[in-house]
Amino acid sequence: MYTNIPKGTKDPIFALNESFKNDLREKKIDLGVGVFKADNGLTPLMKSVQVAESSYVIKEQSSKVYKGLMGNDGFNREIGKLLIENNDVRESAAVIQTTGGSGALRLISDYIYSVNPDCTVWVSNPSYANHAPILKDAGLKICYYDYIDSDSRMVDIKAVLSSLNSAKEGDVILLHGCCHNPTGADFNKEDWTQLKEFMKNKRLTPFVDIAYQGLGGTLEQDAGGLNILLSEIQEMFITSSCSKNFGLYAERVGAAIIVCKQKDFVPNVKRRLGNIALNSYAMPPNHGAAIVEKILTEPFLNCLWVDELGHMRERIKSNRLALYSALKDLGYIGDIEFILSHKGMFSSFGWCESFINIMRESHGIYIVQGGRVNFAAIAKNDIIRIASSICAAQNLLHRVLSPV
Ligand SMILES: Cc1ncc(COP(=O)(O)O)c(C=O)c1O
Repeated sequence: MYTNIPKGTKDPIFALNESFKNDLREKKIDLGVGVFKADNGLTPLMKSVQVAESSYVIKEQSSKVYKGLMGNDGFNREIGKLLIENNDVRESAAVIQTTGGSGALRLISDYIYSVNPDCTVWVSNPSYANHAPILKDAGLKICYYDYIDSDSRMVDIKAVLSSLNSAKEGDVILLHGCCHNPTGADFNKEDWTQLKEFMKNKRLTPFVDIAYQGLGGTLEQDAGGLNILLSEIQEMFITSSCSKNFGLYAERVGAAIIVCKQKDFVPNVKRRLGNIALNSYAMPPNHGAAIVEKILTEPFLNCLWVDELGHMRERIKSNRLALYSALKDLGYIGDIEFILSHKGMFSSFGWCESFINIMRESHGIYIVQGGRVNFAAIAKNDIIRIASSICAAQNLLHRVLSPV
């Protein structure tokens, strides 16, 4: 009875990854998987991480005893500082270390359901592929709000606010802190300010998921939106991931933060978060969190990390410019200014399924459904091949769709 079960659904990105591995063509290119890669196609171990781990964390560790339900307190304190500018607001925040950003998303979803099971969480359309499944699995109802303008491929703030008009008091609005996945289209300062006013007036609670801090702009710039909200909104959920900006993917490091209306609410919120954690995995692993704590507290490591992060950001930007220029030179049809305006690793081109199939089958180039391209996965030497394949796929579809 426990083993003869129906076939489950396959996650589309994992499925794409599997087909890529099984593809025997030598010159295949993976632009799908959501990890940062250096020009050699490998996801680097950051120098700051390497030094923090080998010269500090391992040397200083004398015991592997449990850390407690909140995880590593030093990590929690430092992540709070990295995200929340205002000291008073930070003192009103309950921070718990989690197993990556995904663990944080699940913990906050369980928390919301435990306090307000009738709540609806509003998710952008499109959004990170795991947002809706995690929220739904926790029992929450979800609704979608319109997000980008399909022509310019930039945020359509009017459409966002118009769809959120149907939200009711107490509903939660899930927003990407920066580097929106999958579109790459972020809110600008004015948009965040409008969102703040809107949510304050309608008594909606923001839930900011920030998984790419430092990969769009500086660390402070990327946390700018959530700090605009915090300047006037007293209750907020934040989930943060150290997978991408510290390259600590497999160590599973992240944080869930609940900003409370009052400082004296924090102990009870922490106790509830701790109970939810205890009922599933109990305590998060310490190793990656200890590395992050060290990087954020040791000035020399901090400088090294900020510098490395800057280089990662520059690599993404230069790949954006290179692909944009190559597509322009090769005569891509349509407006592609968004490539230069988008932030972070991804841009979604809005290509149809046939286009993505042609790219995979005829050119060996793997792209996620909806046309999400990972700019951090492009090797400089592949730019021309990628651009000419895109233009060839476009021409082929154009001919098929408009026969003479
Ligand atoms: C928007 C967003 N949130 C959360 C996550 C989950 O991050 P993690 O790998 O730390 O679980 C991701 C990962 O791609 C993401 O894109």
